[in-house]
Amino acid sequence: MNEFTVRLTTSFGLESILKKEANRLGYAPVKTEDGSVFVKGGYEDILRLDLSLRTANRVLIQVAEGKASSFDELYDLVYSIDWKEHLPKDAAFSVEKITSVSSALFSRSDCQAIIKKAAVEKLKKQYAAGAISETGPYYPLIARIKNDVCSIYLNASGEPLNKRGYRLNKLKAPISETLAAGIVLLSGYTGKREFADIMCGSGTIAIEAAMIASDMAPGLNRRFSVDDWHVVDTNRSKEIRERARDMIHRPDYRILASDIDRNAVRTSISNAKRCGTDSFIAFQKADMRDFRSRAKFGTIVTNPPYGERLSDRREAEELYKDLRNVFDSLTGWQMSIITANPEFQRCFGKKADRNRKLYNGNMLTYLYSYNENTGEKYG
Ligand SMILES: C[S@@+](CC[C@H](N)C(=O)[O-])C[C@H]1O[C@@H](n2cnc3c(N)ncnc32)[C@H](O)[C@@H]1O
Repeated sequence: MNEFTVRLTTSFGLESILKKEANRLGYAPVKTEDGSVFVKGGYEDILRLDLSLRTANRVLIQVAEGKASSFDELYDLVYSIDWKEHLPKDAAFSVEKITSVSSALFSRSDCQAIIKKAAVEKLKKQYAAGAISETGPYYPLIARIKNDVCSIYLNASGEPLNKRGYRLNKLKAPISETLAAGIVLLSGYTGKREFADIMCGSGTIAIEAAMIASDMAPGLNRRFSVDDWHVVDTNRSKEIRERARDMIHRPDYRILASDIDRNAVRTSISNAKRCGTDSFIAFQKADMRDFRSRAKFGTIVTNPPYGERLSDRREAEELYKDLRNVFDSLTGWQMSIITANPEFQRCFGKKADRNRKLYNGNMLTYLYSYNENTGEKYG
């Protein structure tokens, strides 16, 4: 069976969580870089990774890596790839994404054209064909050039993995699904205590928490480009998905999604329905200031408004003060807050026990995590 170097991409700051996820699935990471974790595996492993990883953005198969400081070197590198090993005679393909950092080659359109030309020429030679029809399955390619070294990948995910298929309805400032899963996992939540997102917006954080608590694989509602390639036997692929479905169970503890805005609650419910987690979550229209719980232990993970416009800023900062009162009233609960507002800790009135830099798309945000409130008074 073919074994590849597989690059798992993620948002900056989530590498350690992605590494743990890969490990739990039985893949020992061979290398970690900013925004990426590398493992080894064959096509079946790639399908499992696509299906199961909560914090990966893409699963990429590395097909070549080598020096490319000129167009000729880039052409030779791509031509040296055994394309027949990966692509059928009628494969359709294009270079969907190309990045260049600290390298002589920086013109993306030129690099894209050269990669495509070299791959077509090699395929023609390998299949002894006059032309490549490109009428068959689609193979998205990704190239990264860094310090004059170029890596070429087949994108085995297709659409990025944050597109789980459940969030058709978005509200203002939603958090990406993979980042939501990442912050829930970074909070230490495993499903073994109560959970609440008390400013849930379109419900992403609570839905990801419900998937974690119920052992629901995040990719069950979608397909991946590796499916279109027919490299995993159809019965085997069905079996892998059925096994993942069999793992799903009702969470043992309550999960709450609430928001002051009725429309947000409605949106959360319809998103959760699409995902299949609606019966695992209690939804409420409520002001977070009124949140109370009798549970001895619990976790709040939430993404409050950050006051993007100056006029909203004061209101957002008042909200952070009120959030502190909620935290103080909940003995045994821990809280993690993700926000782009740099004044959060000052307004909340307490330095976080852990503070992580994370990116929501291109926006720099911070995750402030507070350990269990012991009920003692502190400043
Ligand atoms: C940044 S959005 C949350 C986005 C969400 N994480 C998502 O992925 O869609 C902030 C949410 O806080 C809610 N909110 C603001 N003040 C609130 C309050 N006092 N109580 C409850 N929810 C509140 C807003 O209605 C809004 O939906």
